[in-house]
Amino acid sequence: MQTATAFENVIPVGKLITSDGRVAPQVIVNSVAEQFFTSIDLDAIAVVEGKEPVGLVTRTKLLFTLFRRFGFELYGKHPIITIADTTPLFVSEDERLDVVIDKALERPPQDIYDEIIITCPKGLFRGLLSVKQLVIQQSNALASSILQKEAASARAQELEKISRVKSQFLANVTHELRSPVNAIIGLAELLRMAAEKDSIEEIKERLSFMISSATNLRAIITNILDLSKIEAGKMEVTSRKFAVLPLLSEIAETTRILVGHKPVAVEVSAPSLPVMIATDPIKLRQIVTNLASNAAKFTESGKITITLAIAGSRMEITVSDTGIGIKEEDLDKLFTAFSQIEDVKTKLHQGTGLGLAISKNLAELIGGSISVASAFGKGTAFTVSLPIQNIERGGLYDTE
Ligand SMILES: Nc1ncnc2c1ncn2[C@@H]1O[C@H](COP(=O)(O)OP(=O)(O)OP(=O)(O)O)[C@@H](O)[C@H]1O
Ligand SMILES: [Mg+2]
Repeated sequence: MQTATAFENVIPVGKLITSDGRVAPQVIVNSVAEQFFTSIDLDAIAVVEGKEPVGLVTRTKLLFTLFRRFGFELYGKHPIITIADTTPLFVSEDERLDVVIDKALERPPQDIYDEIIITCPKGLFRGLLSVKQLVIQQSNALASSILQKEAASARAQELEKISRVKSQFLANVTHELRSPVNAIIGLAELLRMAAEKDSIEEIKERLSFMISSATNLRAIITNILDLSKIEAGKMEVTSRKFAVLPLLSEIAETTRILVGHKPVAVEVSAPSLPVMIATDPIKLRQIVTNLASNAAKFTESGKITITLAIAGSRMEITVSDTGIGIKEEDLDKLFTAFSQIEDVKTKLHQGTGLGLAISKNLAELIGGSISVASAFGKGTAFTVSLPIQNIERGGLYDTE
């Protein structure tokens, strides 16, 4: 790949010409000086005979000559060519920037900042190029080359990180899939032994373990497929308008089933007016269900509340519980795939550590976000927040 420096340096200097100021050799010195006095930006003028450049007059050198003692008297009425520099740097317009810079820097120190005369390949006058312009061009080229290199190395690092995360993901997937598969094989073996003994009770018990292992396996596979679909950008979003409260009540009902016999109440709290939202109902249901099933899993007693609220420009659904809570230092790991907190209590619960990663991705897919607040040992609250432009308050329930 060509670097920016190489690219910028192959610019022909003809493209950088800064002025085409010229005078004929016979023009008298005083009148050239006047041109410099009247146009303050003029740094140099080429002396051109016919179309051929024959010399260069720079502001600094002309003024230096004139303001010396008797300068005006001695030189003022002479033709400009008598005091012009007749050996300036002449460069063809198709010369490369880097070559010209080298040539410019090779000049004696007193000439190093003098303008350069650019000619056509045939030697006719084309214009003047200031050294300042050369320097600017060169530093731009350097800067963009450095930026390009930095961007390339950041990209390389990012790719390496992604590939590391992917292989970690694959290793975890394999591990997670192997456990239930091993369980199913083991149970099948036990089942065969029970069948040989004709023990109906044992057969029933092992079959029900097998079903629950296989169900767990299916859940893991569904989660992994979901996550891969989201990551590949293949998860589609289908928005429609619907009432949020009935959805939350249904989720609360499922959560009660998950809580089972534990002394945990499940409540829904919402504004009295109906709240309608236009978003993907399946995705929203999946997100809140994941949060509520976590709450059911990690709460031994107390209460799980699903709260619907309008907060400024957003609609918020909060699932709070009075469960085991999460330590401050573990909070930022939560939304990473396969991250289950290393804790004896968590380890007691089944799961792949994919639920929150999926929920976060889904929330972002529908334009929202998820945040968490927790007090270790006391409880946790996860909040899904969606932008308010999707919301209508006080409308009729839409039953479509
Ligand atoms: N309400 C909660 N209270 C306490 N800890 C929680 C809560 N929700 C999540 N966690 C912690 O975050 C971890 C990740 O949750 P996540 O939903 O991603 O995975 P999981 O529930 O373990 O498995 P999965 O959802 O894939 O079945 C959990 O294992 C648990 O350690
Ligand atoms: Mg979960």
